[in-house]
Amino acid sequence: MFNIRRMEPKDLIDVQRCNQYNLPENYPMVFWTYSVITWPEASFLAEDLGGKIVGYVLASVEQAEENDHLWVGHINSLAVLRPYRRLGLAKRLMTLSKESMMDTYPLQYIQLHVRISNRAALSLYRDALGYTVHSVDYRYYADGEDAFSMRLWINGNPDILRHRRQRWKIFGSFHRFMVRKHEQLAYCFRGTGSAS
Ligand SMILES: CC(C)(COP(=O)(O)OP(=O)(O)OC[C@H]1O[C@@H](n2cnc3c(N)ncnc32)[C@H](O)[C@@H]1OP(=O)(O)O)[C@@H](O)C(=O)NCCC(=O)NCCS
Repeated sequence: MFNIRRMEPKDLIDVQRCNQYNLPENYPMVFWTYSVITWPEASFLAEDLGGKIVGYVLASVEQAEENDHLWVGHINSLAVLRPYRRLGLAKRLMTLSKESMMDTYPLQYIQLHVRISNRAALSLYRDALGYTVHSVDYRYYADGEDAFSMRLWINGNPDILRHRRQRWKIFGSFHRFMVRKHEQLAYCFRGTGSAS
């Protein structure tokens, strides 16, 4: 049994320890504190019945690179201690963070970076949570490894929606053309009928 709840400033020393056990990307305490105080709705943790922190997600909210008016969720760090993996904890933490950020901000998408060799995390993001690869950021990590920049679109990817709208526009023009032809034919037949 686990308790999943919002991350609070009092948890940060233990959360930072969990981060250091599990990931080479470690942030200074000032970053953890700033994130949790600025976006208290975005970050969550999982603890066992004894109160031991076994997993966390640290997230923030920012403006999109493409457009200042768009809000974007950002997953900065996610980890689950090794003995507690494959129990669905990361999926639950990520889902709670997403829903909570969406309740507070009109998010366009959520983004994150993942090492291209991190098969477990890639599978979690892509197969279990529906993220797609947006781009590859070469030598993104300090040791030179590349990262996939991944996104989860909240209201649909605008590029795909634009294509769909274009398809419907073409279909709409074709449909209107056929209706007009049908009306012209009907008019001809009616004309023929009244002449006989
Ligand atoms: C990646 C990580 C957070 C996953 O945590 P987790 O709690 O074990 O993940 P979940 O149990 O919620 O897994 C949900 C789904 O993700 C996928 N997944 C998770 N771990 C996987 C693995 N080792 N291999 C393949 N798929 C995996 C599966 O689809 C899984 O669903 P399933 O168990 O029904 O098959 C964990 O392995 C971890 O802490 N790794 C080290 C830190 C890290 O890499 N963080 C991500 C940085 S970007």
